[in-house]
Amino acid sequence: MQKLKAAWRSPSNIALIKYWGKKGMQVPANPSFSMTLRNSFTETFVTCHHKGDRHGIPLEFLFDGNKEDIFEKKIAEYFLGITGHLPFIDTMAWHIQSSNTFPHSSGIASSASGISALVLCLLTIENELTGKFTDQDEFFKRASFLSRLGSGSACRSVYGGFALWGKTALVNDATNEMAIPAMHLVHENFQDVKNAILIVSSHKKPISSRTGHGLMTNHSFASRRYLQAEKNLESLLAGMKEGDWDVFVRIVETEALSLHAMMMTSEPSYILMEPNTLNIIDKIRKFRKDSGIPACFTLDAGPNIHLLYPGSSYGEVREFITQELLVSCERNQWIDDGIGEGPVSL
Ligand code: DP6
Repeated sequence: MQKLKAAWRSPSNIALIKYWGKKGMQVPANPSFSMTLRNSFTETFVTCHHKGDRHGIPLEFLFDGNKEDIFEKKIAEYFLGITGHLPFIDTMAWHIQSSNTFPHSSGIASSASGISALVLCLLTIENELTGKFTDQDEFFKRASFLSRLGSGSACRSVYGGFALWGKTALVNDATNEMAIPAMHLVHENFQDVKNAILIVSSHKKPISSRTGHGLMTNHSFASRRYLQAEKNLESLLAGMKEGDWDVFVRIVETEALSLHAMMMTSEPSYILMEPNTLNIIDKIRKFRKDSGIPACFTLDAGPNIHLLYPGSSYGEVREFITQELLVSCERNQWIDDGIGEGPVSL
C-alpha cells in the first residue's frame, strides 16, 4: 500500500495588535499584527494511505510520542471541516506525530504553530497527489487560509518576520481570509527584535481562547475595543515604518493590557495574569526607565510575559533577566527567542 509523507516545522507567533473577538467562520473582528518566532515551534510528521472509501476519517495523533485523545478529536473535527477544500482528506487514513519546543496551553500560541505545521503537511501531500506543484506564493496563501479555519492566529505563522491578518484600509491587500507577509512595512530597526518568553506558569489555562473570543460577542466594550485595535494598528505601523521604538513600546504594552482588560470585564469575568506577571511588568518598566533600553512586554492569552527588545541590547537584557526576572518565573524557566524566518519543510 502506497504511503504518502510530509513533515514541517512551523513557528509560533506573538501578536502585537491582538485578535480578540470574531464572527462567523473565523472572521476576525479587527485586524491583527504579529511577529513570527524562531525557537518556539512545532514539528509535525504526517503519513497517510488510501483507504478505499469515503466513510469516516481514521486518524491517530501522537504528541511527544504519546496518544493524545483531546487533540486527536480536535484534529478529526478540523479535517471534517476542511474536506470541502481538500477532498482527498476523507479518502485517506492518517497518522500524525507532533512535538513542540515549548509547553502547550500555557499562553504560548501552540495552536498557531500546531495548526500551521499540520496544514503545510496537508498541502505538501496534496501536491504529491495531484502532481501540481503550485508556486510558492499560492502555496503559502492557501496554507494561511486553511490555517485560519483551524485557529485564527495560525494563519499568521506561515510567514516569517511580521504578518498582518484582517481587513484594514491601512494596507491595500490586507484581508480577513488569510494573513499577508508584512516585513516590508517596517524599518530595519525592527529586523532583529528579540523575545524573552518568561514562563510565569506552564499550567493549562482555565479558559480557552475560543471561549474568550465568544465572550466578546456580548461584551459592553467590544465595539470600542475593535476601534482601538484599528487605531493602534495605524499608530504601530506608522511608528515601525519610521523605526521608532518608543511608539512600538507604547502601543505594544497598551494592546497587551487591553486584551487582558477585555477578559477581566467579560461576563463572566476572568483573570489570566498572576501576581508574578505584574511583578515582572513592574520590573520591565523600571528597567526601561533606568537603562533607556526600549524593552517592553506583551501577553498572550495567559500569564506568561513576552519581553520584546532590540537585538543590539541582548547582553544587558540577558543580565537583567537572570538577575531580576527569573525569581518570578516557574522553576526559573524562560525561552530565549526572537523574530524568525517562518516555516521550514523537514
Ligand atoms: C490572545 O487564534 O487561539 O493569542 O481562532 O479561536 O483558535 P481561535 O483563537 P486563537 O486566538 C488568539 C488570541 C490571542 C491574540 C492573537 O494571537 O492575536
